[in-house]
Amino acid sequence: MKICVLPGDGIGPEITAEAVRVLKALDLKIEMEEALLGGCAVDATGNPYPEATQKLARVADAVLLGAVGGPQWDSLPREQRPERGLLGIRKDLGLFANLRPAILYPELANASTLKPEVVAGLDILIVRELTGDIYFGQPRGIEVRNGERVGFNTMIYSESEIRRILRVAFEAAMKRNKKVCSVDKMNVLECTQLWRDVAIEVGKEYPEVELSHLLVDNAAMQLVRAPKQFDVMVTGNMFGDILSDEASMLTGSIGMLPSASLDANNKGMYEPSHGSAPDIAGQGVANPLATILSAAMMLRYTFANEAAAQRVEGAVKKVLAQGFRTGDIFEPGTKRVGTREMGDAVLAAL
Ligand code: IPM
Ligand code: MG
Repeated sequence: MKICVLPGDGIGPEITAEAVRVLKALDLKIEMEEALLGGCAVDATGNPYPEATQKLARVADAVLLGAVGGPQWDSLPREQRPERGLLGIRKDLGLFANLRPAILYPELANASTLKPEVVAGLDILIVRELTGDIYFGQPRGIEVRNGERVGFNTMIYSESEIRRILRVAFEAAMKRNKKVCSVDKMNVLECTQLWRDVAIEVGKEYPEVELSHLLVDNAAMQLVRAPKQFDVMVTGNMFGDILSDEASMLTGSIGMLPSASLDANNKGMYEPSHGSAPDIAGQGVANPLATILSAAMMLRYTFANEAAAQRVEGAVKKVLAQGFRTGDIFEPGTKRVGTREMGDAVLAAL
């Protein structure tokens, strides 16, 4: 197994280091090699997704990513921004299926801003399409028309793109509570009328799964009103970007949530759902658990090693039960630890 490790920017290097220690401790035959992505890559090479990284990422079985971005790169031309590196690697590796679980750990029930009875036991999987939609649609740009500037983007999906992401959602639901909620805006956007039509077609292939549909505005509302009605939610790239941030905060701690971005053969890139947190970078206080849990997803999806995945997830649950907390999930009566100590605790629990 070959893993390409991309620590990235901000807290990325600190949190990936802990996930790497966990992977090494498992005694699996894993080879790991590091490369640059994001702002650090721009600084070193001028390109947020440099050729050396492309080569390594393409031959690796899986990619472990920390996070990219930071204020020092925000004023660069668009093609040199760290985010462009992230979108570039997703597209280059064909990682069209983004799985973002939102799970509320019982020990962290107080971390949510919602009432405990609304979120207790929450376990949602957001399946976000990741290589299409308005993120990549052409034409796009800013230009002068009739003497004033106009900005434009194109929301576009082909039926094959919709079908393959719907299948990922239905397959996931078959292993969970057999419910899929497809999110669109078919009352206004033709592109998402097609989304709904194809969702209904694919739904017929999965008679055991209950398929429902929500308009995206209603879905956003339902997520905070009664989030436990959901099992798997599936949607396009932009709606998924927004709804997955919303869903993550139901758990009160985006620092706990992993993600997987998969291609058609379960090659994947695994990264925490949170960003690079430049404000706390380099201080050794960031929560490494989302990255460690991302490594667990890697073991599950790319390496088909469910036992190892559960071992890592079990170790994370154990350190939470033991009371270890980084600053983002700290509450009085628990043990506040830094990034490295949290990694130590997970290794000890393993
Ligand atoms: C995410 C992020 C990215 C996205 C940004 C950093 C380009 O918000 O992974 O959700 O919009 O996809
Ligand atoms: Mg986002």
